[in-house]
Amino acid sequence: MARVLILFAHPALHRSRVNLALMKAVQDLEDVTFVDLYEDYPNLHIDHQEEQERLLQHDTVVWQHPFYWYAAPAILKEWMDVVLEHGFAYGEGGTRLVGKKLMSAITTGGPEDAYRPEGTNRFTMRELLAPMDQTAYLCGMQYLEPFIIHGARQLTPAQIQEWAQRYRQRIEELRNDR
Ligand SMILES: Cc1cc2nc3c(=O)[nH]c(=O)nc-3n(C[C@H](O)[C@H](O)[C@H](O)COP(=O)(O)O)c2cc1C
Repeated sequence: MARVLILFAHPALHRSRVNLALMKAVQDLEDVTFVDLYEDYPNLHIDHQEEQERLLQHDTVVWQHPFYWYAAPAILKEWMDVVLEHGFAYGEGGTRLVGKKLMSAITTGGPEDAYRPEGTNRFTMRELLAPMDQTAYLCGMQYLEPFIIHGARQLTPAQIQEWAQRYRQRIEELRNDR
């Protein structure tokens, strides 16, 4: 069994349809820690020591968030900036995350075909996620195939529930280390 840490970033959870459903689908899973970063740090003052300790207690990290301007909401970037320190996550002596796994779980407003060279967003999701992939690489972590839900605003309640169950299965697979 792997211990899974989900770091969730949504600045307007009261308006969320999809991430809220995903969150509810995984919160009760054993050996899965769910952290709502905006709830824990409403002023963005992240406790880097506590976050580093939390990382060390888990094998797999999931960054769950809506896609905002082709990236993550601000608090996740802040988390990276203060938690992934030199000497801890990378650089000399920075080997504490080596061998862990990292997965992005992302909802987008744009449909899947917008994220193609001929589409309105021009780049594929894998291309746009290169900074996260490379962050994982620098830290010696394995960047897994991202879990992506496109066209989030067009989804019906039934489709959202289907995606929530798929997400739960994916997190269970990570926890069962498959
Ligand atoms: C500030 C902001 C920026 C956004 N940027 C993007 C974007 O770059 N690409 C995209 O496909 N959707 C974008 N969206 C749409 C959100 O990704 C979408 O509303 C969200 O994934 C829906 O999930 P939710 O129901 O959990 O809020 C943006 C929305 C907001 C509010």
